[in-house]
Amino acid sequence: MTVLVTGGAGYIGSHIVAVLAKSGIRCVVLDNFVNSDPSVLERLARITGAPVEHVRADLRERSVVVDTLRRFGVTDVIHMAGLKAVGESVGHPIEYYGCNIQGTISLLEAMQEVGVHRLVFSSSATVYGDPRYLPLDESHPTSATNPYGRSKLHIEEMLHDVARSSESWHIVCLRYFNPVGAHPSALIGEDPAGIPNNLMPFVAQVAAGLRPELQVFGNDYPTADGTGVRDFIHVMDLAEGHQAALQALPNRPGWEAVNLGTGVGYSVLDMVKAFEQASGVAIPYRVVARRSGDIAACYADPALARQRFGWHARRGLEDMCHSTWAWQKMRRSMV
Ligand code: UD1
Repeated sequence: MTVLVTGGAGYIGSHIVAVLAKSGIRCVVLDNFVNSDPSVLERLARITGAPVEHVRADLRERSVVVDTLRRFGVTDVIHMAGLKAVGESVGHPIEYYGCNIQGTISLLEAMQEVGVHRLVFSSSATVYGDPRYLPLDESHPTSATNPYGRSKLHIEEMLHDVARSSESWHIVCLRYFNPVGAHPSALIGEDPAGIPNNLMPFVAQVAAGLRPELQVFGNDYPTADGTGVRDFIHVMDLAEGHQAALQALPNRPGWEAVNLGTGVGYSVLDMVKAFEQASGVAIPYRVVARRSGDIAACYADPALARQRFGWHARRGLEDMCHSTWAWQKMRRSMV
């Protein structure tokens, strides 16, 4: 098996490469480094013990994708490459649809041309919109409230049509809940440019003294402590979920969407407390207004992933916080 990992230098992609390479699966990274740093590949090489095979390109350069699939003898694709900031997508929808949707179409054309038909797509629990019930199972209705979410939904639907068109396609869309944490080596992790949009990188930067305090977006939600509740999943569990999906794919023709979550929801304040414990550092915070577009609670029914791939999340909150903190300290020492 040779796997092309588009967006393989990103936060989740790099952890997938680390996990697959450890199992002896050959990976080829394709990335344009628009939201990642080429030094990730050097650090990944230290983890895997061998140089990371990679191609610097945008997916929309279709001839380069065709050439890459052929040159490396790719058998399977994990498609992670895409833009992912909700707020930014509202101001730049054309960029988002261009990158995410045109990028995917170009990849599919290239795969079709070369005869590669196995695809794992990086989707998101954002496709469930405002939950009508919890936990969220895969038959929950889908909807989107912003261009980022809509791009994920359109791609899922497009892939469904592709799988209906010919029996040769094997496609799984993995709907991620909230990935956090880092590789145990602390050599790779989430490294957002500018002010982090997501909770955990922000908390980590407050703990490191880079930001004075965390703003908690609302404490008047109908949850136990009033703050938002999410299904935080360790990025190593998430990466192992991809490996399990890849291994199951040959026996799963057609299209399917599968949640990757833990099934457990933690609140913003739970996360702050757990991070304080793991780091030994106090996290000052202030409650401010709700963030527009946020939902009260979101967590997965993870049963289908266990049934289909024999996978379930194993790592707990402590490991999520410890590894985030170890990575945060390592990252600072690198700059
Ligand atoms: C966000 C995106 C989602 C995307 C996911 C990727 C929004 C509205 N949703 O999900 O589409 O798939 O990231 O990981 O942006 N919080 C604070 N203070 C902060 C940051 C966050 O209180 O500085 C709270 C939020 O209100 C929320 C929780 O922390 O209750 C988690 O937020 P975040 O990490 O941004 O994830 P999501 O909103 O679930």
